[in-house]
Amino acid sequence: MKGLILVGGYGTRLRPLTLSLPKPLVEFGNRPMILHQIEALANAGCTDIVLAVNYKPEVMVGALKQYEKEYGVNITFSVEEEPLGTAGPLKLAEKILTKDDTPIFVLNSDVICEYPLTDLLKFHTDHGGEATIVATKVDEPSKYGVIVHDRDVPNLIERFVEKPVEFVGNRINAGIYVLNPSVIDLIEMRPTSIEHETFPILVENKKLFSFDLPGYWMDVGQPKDFLSGMCLYLSALTKKNSPLLTSTSEDYINGGNVLIDKSAKIGKGCKIGPNVVIGPNCIIGDGVRIQRSTILKNSQIKDHAWVKSTIVGWNSTVGKWARLEGVTVLGEDVTVKDEVYVNGGKVLPHKSIKDNVETPQIIM
Ligand code: GDD
Ligand code: MG
Repeated sequence: MKGLILVGGYGTRLRPLTLSLPKPLVEFGNRPMILHQIEALANAGCTDIVLAVNYKPEVMVGALKQYEKEYGVNITFSVEEEPLGTAGPLKLAEKILTKDDTPIFVLNSDVICEYPLTDLLKFHTDHGGEATIVATKVDEPSKYGVIVHDRDVPNLIERFVEKPVEFVGNRINAGIYVLNPSVIDLIEMRPTSIEHETFPILVENKKLFSFDLPGYWMDVGQPKDFLSGMCLYLSALTKKNSPLLTSTSEDYINGGNVLIDKSAKIGKGCKIGPNVVIGPNCIIGDGVRIQRSTILKNSQIKDHAWVKSTIVGWNSTVGKWARLEGVTVLGEDVTVKDEVYVNGGKVLPHKSIKDNVETPQIIM
């Protein structure tokens, strides 16, 4: 089995974090985002994984090499000279993707869910079409590709509308596909969109089906959604009784859904949770309160600080009695001085904040 992950774009919506690290390497639940997908593909039996990128991949190559062995997969970087859209990259990687006649998994890189790829593959093989789109339901379908079903044939897609301006339904494309190798024959070697160009041909041929995703789903490409996605991810771990989670018997855990790396140090009298991720080598002082936040590795939160709905970037320091909230994002190596209040600030790397930030803004 083979899989391709679409990793284009510069991750501008996840700044300031993506000023320091490509988005796929930003840790979600203490692991690089893309590792969640690589692991899912490996678990579904993929041995060849193509990462389709349109920028210099050196940092990613270096960071991901070690996982080839760990997951027993070959990772190939397929680098576009110009952005090829969401279908062009499949043509570019044709050699690897069509080396045998098994189906191909395709994943957008910015979504998080439980990846039921084995069930998806079985569904795909059983319906006899050429491609399957994983579908989920959302309240605001206009930001996504919307799926409309045929009335007579179960799960057959009758219409696919990318970013509809008028309401056509709320079952959307979750950005996860399985395709027969024959689908690559429909794609030309040029910048082209799977949503706008390839899916309509498959719909026309009555070869495109949808599979309803069980469980949660979130596009985590921006800070607000990153935090919502983190809550969903942690709740799913709790539901599974995952040993990854920090035990609720620790006296500082409040409400559960907390994932703390074993190398992090927690002070006395803290109250942490619900919905918190703390990365490796973080130092949390005494009496600290953290909820609904991710603290990335090597950061320090000093005594009595209160951190809520915030992402603290790598190597940052939050001062004593400081208070962060309102989807604040600290870039790498930021210092928030003692007693400072930040509400919805996006703070660029290497900055030091001495004054209160009362309203959401970018701090450069
Ligand atoms: N290699 C490569 N080259 N990847 C690309 C390129 C490109 O030129 N352009 C986009 N991508 C990647 C993005 O990194 C992302 O993983 C995926 O293709 C989809 O692009 P987005 O820009 O994130 O699209 P979207 O979020 O507006 O819409 C897509 O995702 C929705 C689900 O989140 C569509 O597939 C929608 O139909 C879908 O509902
Ligand atoms: Mg997206």
